[in-house]
Amino acid sequence: MGGAEGLEQELKSLEAEALRALAEAPDSQGVEGVRVKFLGRKGALAEQFTRFREGDWEPADRARIGKLLNGLKQRLEAALSEASGKQPAAPKTSGPRFDPTLPGVVPRAGRLHPLTQTIREIIAIFQELGFSAVEGPEAETDHNNFEALNIPADHPSRESFDTYYLAGAQTPDTGHRTPDTDAAARWLLRSHTSPVQIRYMRTHKPPFQIVVPGRVFRRDAVDATHCFQFHQVEGLAVGPDLSFGDLKGVLEAWARRMFGGRTEIRFRPHYFPFTEPSAEVDLKGPRGWLEIMGCGMVHPNVFKAVGLPPGTAGFAFGMGVERIAMIRHGIQDIRFFFENDLEFLRQFP
Ligand code: DAH
Repeated sequence: MGGAEGLEQELKSLEAEALRALAEAPDSQGVEGVRVKFLGRKGALAEQFTRFREGDWEPADRARIGKLLNGLKQRLEAALSEASGKQPAAPKTSGPRFDPTLPGVVPRAGRLHPLTQTIREIIAIFQELGFSAVEGPEAETDHNNFEALNIPADHPSRESFDTYYLAGAQTPDTGHRTPDTDAAARWLLRSHTSPVQIRYMRTHKPPFQIVVPGRVFRRDAVDATHCFQFHQVEGLAVGPDLSFGDLKGVLEAWARRMFGGRTEIRFRPHYFPFTEPSAEVDLKGPRGWLEIMGCGMVHPNVFKAVGLPPGTAGFAFGMGVERIAMIRHGIQDIRFFFENDLEFLRQFP
């Protein structure tokens, strides 16, 4: 049994080994490693060539083995040049390797802000009661925010509202800035959502029922229950023969859906310039009555300001969204809503 046959066997397993290593090379760096190991100057093949050259072979064996070696070299070179198209090595990271047996990484889904959730719940109930949701702008005219709502310039209730006027003035119709300072043309950040009543009534014919969510602005100093910005949901229904009884029925139905079937509310006489009679609505909680909104029958002067005829009937209401969210979730401080603290926000899935 000549050395020739042994060498032939070795060359076969060398080829198999090289191809396996190539197949397993993860990237171009791995391929280069295979090239060095098998085809490098001191590689496995070079070693075999040396052995062949120094061996003492029968002429027939010499021819056969030489051919075998050259064939092997060509095949390995071809395989290597094909494999060198592999992805370049990924930058070395210290992180763990991909482990297909681990459970997948669940992407963290976003969620709605608790105030958005509260607004949507409030609105959805009113929609079932036949109201449509509409919106109005946050920058409003003095006329819509005050005058048309029966709050003249010298009215005491302006004091808490009188705030955040926009520099310069804009005409209400075009929004175009002018040096005009006449009251009708002055603009401010709205102090309540009630001006949307005016906008809507000027452009729609009764009957209608609307709810209006939105952000409002006051010159309040910030503390646990006050902020310079907060949200309201306004309501307005105008239609023949609407009475205070309708107002009570709607708000009671809403409160029971919002806070639970046994919820009790009460109507306490109050004053608002834009309604007559007016009331505040209290919600019965475990520790007593909590005021949750103002309401009343739309004042005739308001209908007059929007050009609706005498005898028009309707009711209106307005509630603070933060307050309702705080009652529902037992939140003690209004500032949580605006701090964007994820520990807080994640509690409202
Ligand atoms: N606009 C009032 C406020 O911001 C809330 C309000 C009270 C709205 C009575 C109404 C209403 O529509 O009828 O304090």
